[in-house]
Amino acid sequence: MDGASGGGGGGGGLAACPRRGRLRDRSRRCQPARLPDSRTRACSNIPEMLTILPPWFLCPQIDKYLYSMRLSDETLKDIMNRFRREMEDGLGHGTNPTATVKMLPTFVRSIPDGSEKGDFIALDLGGSNFRILRVKVTQDKKQPVQMESQVYETPDDIIHGSGTQVRALELFDHVAECLGDFMEKQKIKDKKLPVGFTFSFPCAQSNVLEYAAKTGKIILTWTKKFKASGVEGTDVVKLLNKAIKKRGDYEADIMAVVNDTVGTMMTCGFDDQRCEVGIIIGTGTNACYMEEMRHIDQVEGDEGRMCINTEWGAFGDDGSLEDLRTEFDREIDRGSINPGKQLFEKMASGMYMGELVRLILVKMAKEGLLFEGRITPELLTKGKIETKHVSAIEKTKEGLKKCMEILTRLGVEPSDEDCLAVQHVCTIVSFRSANLIAATLGGILSRLKENKGVARLRTTVGIDGSLYKMHPQYARRLHKMVRRLVPDSDVRFLLSESGSGKGAAMVTAWCLTCLKCMLLQKAFSFFLPRNRHFHET
Ligand code: BGC
Repeated sequence: MDGASGGGGGGGGLAACPRRGRLRDRSRRCQPARLPDSRTRACSNIPEMLTILPPWFLCPQIDKYLYSMRLSDETLKDIMNRFRREMEDGLGHGTNPTATVKMLPTFVRSIPDGSEKGDFIALDLGGSNFRILRVKVTQDKKQPVQMESQVYETPDDIIHGSGTQVRALELFDHVAECLGDFMEKQKIKDKKLPVGFTFSFPCAQSNVLEYAAKTGKIILTWTKKFKASGVEGTDVVKLLNKAIKKRGDYEADIMAVVNDTVGTMMTCGFDDQRCEVGIIIGTGTNACYMEEMRHIDQVEGDEGRMCINTEWGAFGDDGSLEDLRTEFDREIDRGSINPGKQLFEKMASGMYMGELVRLILVKMAKEGLLFEGRITPELLTKGKIETKHVSAIEKTKEGLKKCMEILTRLGVEPSDEDCLAVQHVCTIVSFRSANLIAATLGGILSRLKENKGVARLRTTVGIDGSLYKMHPQYARRLHKMVRRLVPDSDVRFLLSESGSGKGAAMVTAWCLTCLKCMLLQKAFSFFLPRNRHFHET
């Protein structure tokens, strides 16, 4: 293992490769029996065989081939320190304008305390699906949160929005149309319920009063597969309000726009008061955490804490990860809709993982290391291997069978050995992702520990995202590596059960209380010392 994590000790999804020398060398000793008439049947026998293989037999060729993707603990600690420096740059007054990790203040000052209640609509745009939810938060001990939701398709041409400025508005027209449909179905078109909007993109906001003005959420840049033109630099609340007003068949009160990481932290915080970090590992990746006000130069005031949306997906956009990016990462970036941007996200998140595996397989096949050199149009087609396939291939029991099915669909006529090798490639790529996220999360946790000045950090991380939830080995690998990188800590990982929609409702509830407080504060400001706010933790 050369001290490198990722690929070798992968646990259940571990692929053993019975090859010595070249990958297609058929003179190896421990060869799985090949049943020429049924590849799938042959494959289903492989797992038993794997258990008798000694560890030194593990895919040495692939490990060597993908050496640069296997990151040692030392390298991960180095990444953790690099990320900590980026966080400091993002927080500092002089360094923020040029910082790549933007560390956006969210003006959320506390996690829910359980007193939140109300009837809300939540919009959730920017993840794998566009969802609308109705969330009722009550004081009922047994079932404090009730939800009904609907997923709406968002056509690709609206998401990519190529063309004129007019197209950009189509995205918000679409959101407004779906909201109208949802309200109709819920029979609440005549009501004006408060709406929370989980908008999973980097947004800047200059002060909390802008919640009151219901404006001021400026989208800085699109990420993932979104690129509706003419939206960057504009106010998303204004755009949505305009689209709703244009329809004129219902009214909505957009109370809060939150990042999905914040929604996740708030959702988990409702169940566990210790929650002070929220992370997403899905189509995109990002994290937020509670930072000390005294360290946030962009916001006035020194007391208490505020949630910071790190936007860690942009880590590396200034070249700070160049030594770790491989030729495959560069190819992914070149073929993306935002070259040079979100470089960390492109190495770690679910949107790119399947494609990373595909690019590796193409190169290996071209070099005759896989599929006897067979390259098919399907294998050469972008998007033909998805992250859900990587998850399926790494399943402990049926992984190899799935691998055979997936590769067969690509027309490459895989052998059993090809399946073992491809499974190992998947393990290396997904392991690297878990390790990279562990390093950046380790950066946040070590900072929290330092901020608190404690010898041992006890904290909860709220977590969500399709990759984390669906991949069979991911969570375990991530938890293990975080504990290795931040040894003096007791970290509880809490899965956000109901997704970011509930989080939007939580923030809306928080915001409503905050607004009431602000009105009170305004009324009583005469009696309050300067810079004191309600809702400080
Ligand atoms: C966005 C973040 C978001 C993350 C997860 C990234 O591409 O920039 O704002 O939190 O994806 O959805």
